[in-house]
Amino acid sequence: MNDLIPPHTRGESVFVDDIPEPNNMLQVAVFVSDIPHGKIKSLDISKAEKGKGVIRVITAKDIPGENQLGRIIQDEELLAKEKVDFIGQPIAVIYAETKEQANKARNLITIEYEELQAIFDPREAAKKGSLIAPSRTFTLGDVDSIWDSCETIVEGRADSGGQEHVYMETQGSLAIPREEGRVLLYSSTQNPSTVQSTVASILGFDMNKIEVDVTRLGGGFGGKEDQATAWAAFCALGVFYTGRPVKLVLDRNEDITITGKRHPYSTDYKLGLNEEGKILAFSADCYQNSGAAADLSTAVLGRTLFHLTNAYFIPNVQVTAYPCRTNLVPYTAFRGFGAPQGMYVIECALSHAADESGIPISVLQKKNLLVDGDQFPYGMHVENAHAKRSFSKVVEDSEYEKLMTEKEEFNAKSKFMKKGISVMPICFGISFTSIFMNQAGALVNVYYDGSVNVSTGSVEMGQGVNMKIKTIAARSLSIDPKRIRVESTNTSRVINTSPSSASSGADLNGKATEFACLKIIERLKDLVREKLGKGTVSLEDETVYLDGVKTELVWEKLIWLAYTNRVNLAAQALYATPGIHFDNEKEKGKPFAYHVFGSAVTEVSVDCLRGTYTIDKVHVVHDAGRSLNYLIDLGQVEGGLVQGIGWMTLEELQYIDGKLISDALATYKVPDVHFAPEIKTTFLEDTENPHAVLQSKGIGEPPFMYGIGAYFALKDAAQAFRADKEWEYIAPLTPERLLLFLHDLE
Ligand code: MOS
Repeated sequence: MNDLIPPHTRGESVFVDDIPEPNNMLQVAVFVSDIPHGKIKSLDISKAEKGKGVIRVITAKDIPGENQLGRIIQDEELLAKEKVDFIGQPIAVIYAETKEQANKARNLITIEYEELQAIFDPREAAKKGSLIAPSRTFTLGDVDSIWDSCETIVEGRADSGGQEHVYMETQGSLAIPREEGRVLLYSSTQNPSTVQSTVASILGFDMNKIEVDVTRLGGGFGGKEDQATAWAAFCALGVFYTGRPVKLVLDRNEDITITGKRHPYSTDYKLGLNEEGKILAFSADCYQNSGAAADLSTAVLGRTLFHLTNAYFIPNVQVTAYPCRTNLVPYTAFRGFGAPQGMYVIECALSHAADESGIPISVLQKKNLLVDGDQFPYGMHVENAHAKRSFSKVVEDSEYEKLMTEKEEFNAKSKFMKKGISVMPICFGISFTSIFMNQAGALVNVYYDGSVNVSTGSVEMGQGVNMKIKTIAARSLSIDPKRIRVESTNTSRVINTSPSSASSGADLNGKATEFACLKIIERLKDLVREKLGKGTVSLEDETVYLDGVKTELVWEKLIWLAYTNRVNLAAQALYATPGIHFDNEKEKGKPFAYHVFGSAVTEVSVDCLRGTYTIDKVHVVHDAGRSLNYLIDLGQVEGGLVQGIGWMTLEELQYIDGKLISDALATYKVPDVHFAPEIKTTFLEDTENPHAVLQSKGIGEPPFMYGIGAYFALKDAAQAFRADKEWEYIAPLTPERLLLFLHDLE
């Protein structure tokens, strides 16, 4: 009976902290900076070294290899040596017999700083020339020659806040010593090869001395794409110095305080329309708060630029983005990877233009949706655009016109309760924008009893990629999925993996799995022809057909025959997305294999006396291609949507002098089931996608951006109460912020 219920739903899944602890294991405490910027004048670890149960304390000078975490740009020390750049930056690591002893010893470390001036605001950083990398600009047409012919021009500023990932499983790792100094790392990472290669370089090892194994994560959301490495490195360093197993799992408060988050942005925009509401020109300057080190900021910045025009065709575009170095924790990947921040800006500009021109925003949106052949500012032309289709369908399914009439009637009668409605179209490009990362490997092994195990580079983090891989393998081998086990992600079995991110885990690794399965099928077919005579061999439902005639050979017999005839029953394959390219000099190319489209209608109610609100209902029409698994894709839509609503409404990172004060789940509010709206999701039908495995589409990130609709529905409701007041485009729109708009409280 238990077979029908996945172990995960029974609470039997094994996360890093659930792995049975080896004998003799050490625990770790990390000593971090408590000032945002300064020189280290003195650091004294001698008392900590003598602490009870302490085996070793290390600082920057103890790192045998490179003291470097930075990947794209090498600007982030693993342990601060002479200078600290943010609160929470690791400075020393304590290894002790128990966690309590390690934590106690941490309090015995003393440090003196010479404090330096800190910058927290990205605009101030840009003014002072404090950039992580040069700015980037995307251009289409010529905005400057167009402004004069616009009927309506709006200019303004749009700010969006950061976001904490709040994965259920905090960051962590367990390191086990192996023979000849090698290290096995269990790591809660989306990116096993990065953990492997970075830890190797920190230890001064070749990559083949480090093995990383990942069974599953309790959530990642981008937070473990680049920032799982430090914890694994601290554990590996512990093995290096003590020869004992070492575990470090951050507690929630530590995790919130010292790990990266979604990038906050502040943007100046300008949008021009003709009198019918066609967008003629759009320009923007985006200031990304990158934090104190590059991490993935430059890649995130690129994706912001790629998505600033969302699902709209705009003939004249000039958009620039600045990665601004500040003294905050290095911001990192988070579901959508900069695209939500970009889409929020164009929606702010459209909302502003609607207020200015008197043309309803939904009319402006609809008039400007992408159609096949339209060009993006980065040169690519859109194919199979389902922008108009999803928009029309969601308007129809939600009975938008009727909702609008009812809303008007309700708001006319109700003094303090107001309703608001919005439509939010999305268009999201699928592929890593670093072209070389669009590759994945798979290893398929068929045992001689006919059971199969599949290893790929993708990491299961609750998004259901393992189920999709299993489905793909079952279809490719024409066997029952029950025969297939998807293995842990292991750097010794599948090498040089790209992270499970960019909504492309199933796309890339699924295709590699399909390729590897087909190699085995080809060998089996050759064997059948050799044994049964020439003809067309096919496999269906675990049975071999020769020239369409059913044979005696069923899967188990076939595999035994293959084994006894010494046929290779293991196959490895690489998939590399074809046809994509990008010229970073010209900022033009075809960076995406395809785009995902969809639209959402959001209904909200605001209590205008108190500023409190409910997100009542969201209708989603989403393009999932031919879904590999309906329930998984539905879960991704619903989870992404609610996480997006959280980013736009409740979730606020509050800092005082660079110190995060919303540093616990008591003060950092995430949506819960009571806050979540009623969600009605429809997948578009007949939307085959030749550019991904079995006609499917990536789904991890795009639905997040439906959540932006909640912001504009709330604005709609609030303006029904205060039509007289100018709107400031600042997110998150917490109840407190909304209250200050509704009433002139000062
Ligand atoms: Mo995801 S934000 O591409 O890890």
